[in-house]
Amino acid sequence: MTEQSRQKYTRTHGCNQLSSHNAGEQVVLAGWVNSLRNLGGVVFLDLRDRDGLTQVVVNPEELADAAEDVRQLREESVIQVKGTVRERPENMRNPDMKTGDIEVVASWLKIENLAAPMPFHLEDEEVGEDLRLQYRYLEMRRSGLIDKLRLRHRTSQIVRDYFDTSGFVEVETPILSKSTPEGARDYLVPSRVHEGKFYALPQAPQQYKQLLMASGVEKYFQIARCFRDEDLRADRQPEFTQVDMEMSFVERDDILTEVEGMIQRVMREMLGKEVPLPFPRMDYRDAMARFGTDKPDLRFGLELVEVTEHLRDTSFRVFQKVIDSGGCIKALPLPGSVQLSERRIEDWTRIAGEYGAKGLIWLKFEDEQTIKGPLAKFLTEPEIQAVRAETNAEKGDYVLLVADRREIAESALGRLRMEAAEAGELIPSDRYNFAWIVNFPLLEYDEEQGNYSPMHHPFTSPVKEDLHLLDENPLQTRANAFDIVMNGVELGGGSIRIHDPALQEKMFNVLGMGEEESRKRFGHLLKALGYGTPPHGGIALGLDRFVMLLAGAASIRDVIAFPKTARASCLLTGAPSDAEEAQWRELHIAPRRQQKEKG
Ligand code: AMO
Ligand code: AMP
Repeated sequence: MTEQSRQKYTRTHGCNQLSSHNAGEQVVLAGWVNSLRNLGGVVFLDLRDRDGLTQVVVNPEELADAAEDVRQLREESVIQVKGTVRERPENMRNPDMKTGDIEVVASWLKIENLAAPMPFHLEDEEVGEDLRLQYRYLEMRRSGLIDKLRLRHRTSQIVRDYFDTSGFVEVETPILSKSTPEGARDYLVPSRVHEGKFYALPQAPQQYKQLLMASGVEKYFQIARCFRDEDLRADRQPEFTQVDMEMSFVERDDILTEVEGMIQRVMREMLGKEVPLPFPRMDYRDAMARFGTDKPDLRFGLELVEVTEHLRDTSFRVFQKVIDSGGCIKALPLPGSVQLSERRIEDWTRIAGEYGAKGLIWLKFEDEQTIKGPLAKFLTEPEIQAVRAETNAEKGDYVLLVADRREIAESALGRLRMEAAEAGELIPSDRYNFAWIVNFPLLEYDEEQGNYSPMHHPFTSPVKEDLHLLDENPLQTRANAFDIVMNGVELGGGSIRIHDPALQEKMFNVLGMGEEESRKRFGHLLKALGYGTPPHGGIALGLDRFVMLLAGAASIRDVIAFPKTARASCLLTGAPSDAEEAQWRELHIAPRRQQKEKG
């Protein structure tokens, strides 16, 4: 070790701090070598820390015994430099850089860590995601990920502070817990102590938070980790974070108001946006009818319209058949700016097919006389004019139509509404639209299992007026449940819960669970409901999704430090990985291949 490198200096400034005001000062900076340019023996390097960049000029000859070190320096190495701040010559200033007016002339330099050559160029956007995930810590250095993590941190802080100020208590609930169904598979953890028994990682703290209401906490919240073994997409991860809350002695609107206040504050403090309250409340049925989805993006118009009645007597066989069998005809008017090329129609017909639609047909109102598109020849003039009036189509507009069962026609056109908005660039950026979707159906019919399953979860209370339907017509029963939607993304969902043990038991029954099974799975909750549990309700918001939208990111992976792949692996650590045979044995389990060998 050289005499110089043994000296110890502490950082005096961050890499985004220095300006002309500091000219002449002695400073010590530390960070990563962002870039290196060797100009005839003098080395210019940009030094980077988490806040910014500063140009450092190194003349190896002037560093005596550190000269050799400088010659072997590589990008992404970690160094400390001591030097003098100097104003750059007028023509060398960089207005795009916060510290672009100055540079630091090094008098001392120490390499803390000489970086190996990088596995990929850190700013190359073409690098495959697998490689980037494998070196996530390198990707984080330059991709703006750290800024997103800071934004996430700040959001959590505001959320915590908001609930704290509102009198909520943050309570941590167990991770090693018992299965709580939220519609996904459980991650199971085998118990060493109890042979053949398993903990389930929580899909949500749902039952514990209800038990906290039984215990008298009254106002609970938690920034909670949840685990779900389900098929992953851009807005889903196997482990994710919820802003989870529950309140006693409240009705639906008390919960909505509390959440609106929280969101308003986050939007104000994070983005400087003032969102007007209350958020619109839309019935599930209306959302489906008008937007073909229960998470409508309200940043733009393009509403679906029903034209069944106008075409009741049509001679177009395809429509006739659908109407006769009780289906409907839904239309989506689109402005002419959304070009409907043949290729696009083909594409969209395929997309509609993914929702079960058997076809897609269209009209174009070229001008008063000229109606184009394949549907034109199948309809009479009055029918065409009725469609035009119902859809408010103007000159140059298209109308897409799907005839099918209501759910299919609506969901197919709902998806095409999004495709069209993107294709026609009709979605304003920098706009934030929130809405509550309320009165969801309580149940859906699970064709595969041949029984009813809860649309939300089995603890959600039916709407009071619909209680009798639970026996008469279960599928018509509405739930006292609500989702919050932000720019077409389901941000969160909640409900007023069942707090009457008899009704809860009946609910389990409707779901096809016998008394014995419901007691085995949910006996603890049923018991608690019987010992004075107040009326209560709550909601959970996906923190990852919220931060993704605040950050303008395309995926929740961009706001999670160490995300998993679509196949739920962590490429960085290699999880999930093998376990030692001894561990298997301790846990009283064996891999399948071993079981097979044993016969
Ligand atoms: P729910 O299942 O609707 O409700 O979940 C609430 C919110 O959590 C987020 N979320 C996810 N985020 C990322 N990855 C996932 N795999 C994932 N799954 C869900 C979504 C969703 O809206 N216990 C109830 C809440 C309640 O009733 O209070 C629950 O968990 O943003
Ligand atoms: P076909 O008589 O099946 O050849 O259909 C004639 C046209 O109607 C084609 O353009 C189909 O894509 C379209 N079509 C078929 N079924 C439907 C449907 N259910 N809804 C809307 N268009 C349809």
